[in-house]
Amino acid sequence: MIEYRTGNDLDLDEVVEVYVESTLGERRPVADRERMAGMLREANLVVTAWDGQRIVGISRSVSDFHYATYLSDLAVRLSHQKRGIGVELIRRTQRAAPLAAVILLSAPAAVDYYPRIGFTRHESAWILRPGEELRG
Ligand SMILES: CC(C)(COP(=O)(O)OP(=O)(O)OC[C@H]1O[C@@H](n2cnc3c(N)ncnc32)[C@H](O)[C@@H]1OP(=O)(O)O)[C@@H](O)C(=O)NCCC(=O)NCCS
Repeated sequence: MIEYRTGNDLDLDEVVEVYVESTLGERRPVADRERMAGMLREANLVVTAWDGQRIVGISRSVSDFHYATYLSDLAVRLSHQKRGIGVELIRRTQRAAPLAAVILLSAPAAVDYYPRIGFTRHESAWILRPGEELRG
């Protein structure tokens, strides 16, 4: 029985463990505790999935609750994948801000996941990475 909770008052070590055990940790700064703490603290829409006392999945977003929700990280422990937890985390994220579009950048391992569950590919998404210089 999986339970879902909303909120970012979570144990950082447990959250980092979910990132690592889902494999998303390979693409996130899990070794930088301060940065991970900031990512968790400043996110304003975090949904977690629990199996008993253990966090088994997380959806971490920044939302204005009126127009756009940026879903930055979605991770489900390998031991709990393919049971519908990822979809349910996104469904609850969307429901928390029903007027807002859910926007994300897919990790390579999940490029087939998002179209499968109902996302539409956006052909004009653009990114300015930290430290990249604007021209003009
Ligand atoms: C991507 C991820 C969050 C999906 O979570 P999940 O709980 O396993 O997914 P769900 O159970 O909700 O899957 C729903 C459907 O998509 C399918 N699916 C799951 N992962 C998939 C993938 N990577 N590619 C394609 N389809 C996938 C499932 O088989 C399921 O199909 P079904 O309904 O026909 O059975 C999880 O695999 C994960 O944590 N991956 C590693 C981290 C990552 O890449 N995160 C995305 C960052 S943008």
